[in-house]
Amino acid sequence: MIRFFSIACFLGISIFQNTYAQQQFSAGPSWLKQATFYQLYPQSFKDSDGDGVGDLNGIVQKLDYLQNLGITAIWMNPIFESPFFDAGYDVADYYKIAPRYGNESNLRKLIEEAHKRNIKLVLDLVAGHTSDQHPWFKASAQKKKNEFTDRYIWTKSKSILPEKFVAGNFERNGNYLKNFFDCQPALNFGYVNPNPKNKWEQSISSPGAVAMRQELKKIIAYWMDMGVDGFRVDMASSLIKNDADFAATMQLWAEMRNWFQDKYPQGVLIAEWSNPAQSINAGFMIDFMMHFNVPGFPSMFFNKGGVFTRDTCFFSTDANGSADEFIKNYTDQLESTKGKGYVSVATANHDISRLNCGSRNTDEQLKVALAFLLTIKGIPFIYYGDEIGMRYLPDLPGKEGSILTNFGNVNRAGTRTPMQWDASANAGFSTADADKLYLPVDPNETFPNVAAEQSNPSSLFNFTKNLLALRKTTAGLGNEADIEFLNPADKSYPLVYIRSSGTEKYLVVINPSGKQESIVLNNFHSTTFTPLLVDKVVCKKDGNGIKIIADKTTYGIFKLN
Ligand code: NOJ
Repeated sequence: MIRFFSIACFLGISIFQNTYAQQQFSAGPSWLKQATFYQLYPQSFKDSDGDGVGDLNGIVQKLDYLQNLGITAIWMNPIFESPFFDAGYDVADYYKIAPRYGNESNLRKLIEEAHKRNIKLVLDLVAGHTSDQHPWFKASAQKKKNEFTDRYIWTKSKSILPEKFVAGNFERNGNYLKNFFDCQPALNFGYVNPNPKNKWEQSISSPGAVAMRQELKKIIAYWMDMGVDGFRVDMASSLIKNDADFAATMQLWAEMRNWFQDKYPQGVLIAEWSNPAQSINAGFMIDFMMHFNVPGFPSMFFNKGGVFTRDTCFFSTDANGSADEFIKNYTDQLESTKGKGYVSVATANHDISRLNCGSRNTDEQLKVALAFLLTIKGIPFIYYGDEIGMRYLPDLPGKEGSILTNFGNVNRAGTRTPMQWDASANAGFSTADADKLYLPVDPNETFPNVAAEQSNPSSLFNFTKNLLALRKTTAGLGNEADIEFLNPADKSYPLVYIRSSGTEKYLVVINPSGKQESIVLNNFHSTTFTPLLVDKVVCKKDGNGIKIIADKTTYGIFKLN
């Protein structure tokens, strides 16, 4: 059963129709060409002070690990002051680090140590809303007009309560618009064509909306000037309201990109938009194909376990899924963003299931999924722990807004558990008592862990590392090399594609199926297939084409003549 439709509706499914003149952006700084990102959840990565919650100094301790894996950039979820009703996506001060993670001097140290290892550091910018505990919101809720009165979106009277507005015990005679949970009031970036009957709808050039744009720049500049390398922007498409075709929102980000690029030419802006055709044409350098907006990702990965569930998916040994929807939409997105930015398909993130989830739970299956994710076009994003096969932990209690009360009560906590560093107490994540941990560690006695996997040449960790090294040293498998899927419609197993750059050409074969699968490709003229990373996949000449036979749950990467 697909339960993500409501999220899609909430975040706004859209059709790309831009009524503004579109600007031609470049693909961003050159370091992106060879970038591999690692998303880490700061509260769950490494606790250095024994309080049970991960912190910035903990991350510093693990930078060598990330460098050794082949990571070139880190994206951290929000680290700012917050009451943590949505794990930090409810910011109470954009200019202050939450004490549980450390302070500015710890961040400076992290930046310095990361840069020493050629690793960039990207923060999370929650641009569309704050916490209801933010002093701006408190000021905005006052009766007396002040600087923050119009920084949020308020009805003029408590008696009017349209959808998505929240009532409260405020001095001000009004209800506020939320952006996600009730505790996350939407910041006011204005409405397209405000309806004069809806008094809360201010124009995008109203003083409140203009002040918000200025403030965004101020926040970005504050951290960029400290030395970070960019931002992932939360719900980037949500800023301007009533923007059915997102044209005004795209215009806002285009303005932001121009300003950003002038000031920080080496900086990166990553969108959480899940519609690269819009976000990249708006000036973002990277966007994801995830579980909302442009469809495809769930049909590849979501199964019966996990956060959002489905009955069938492509990466299943049952082989009853299809890659068709993904291929169509991913290819379209690549086409409309060519040379302007990167489409990323992440291994997972903090909102959805991990790769190891439900019946997809063996190293064999996970290797096939990683072989796919790390050989397609775009910038790889590895969600912490996916490189060692950490699993989505079902049935955890809710933690800091992990339960999406607004979307069928699904629980994201199972994807946010402590990183498993070794087999010692708390998996080496923290020295705190187990009951003080941010979330419990995997109770399985044989949980995968970094120490064990590093010393095992055939582990998932070493497989991931080898794949990343191959990707880095092989232009034809790199972030920008072309991709062409070869399967006819309705024949998804094994999945076969060509990566190429100049005269270099590679064939990739992906077979998640629990049985042997084969495919014949006519008019395939290569005659030599040099195996680069292959597990029981054979390519034979067959008339004027080839026959590929892939053993159960295997992958193959071949260099073509
Ligand atoms: C998307 C983030 O990824 C998610 O974790 C958060 O709950 C919402 N935006 C609201 O900020």
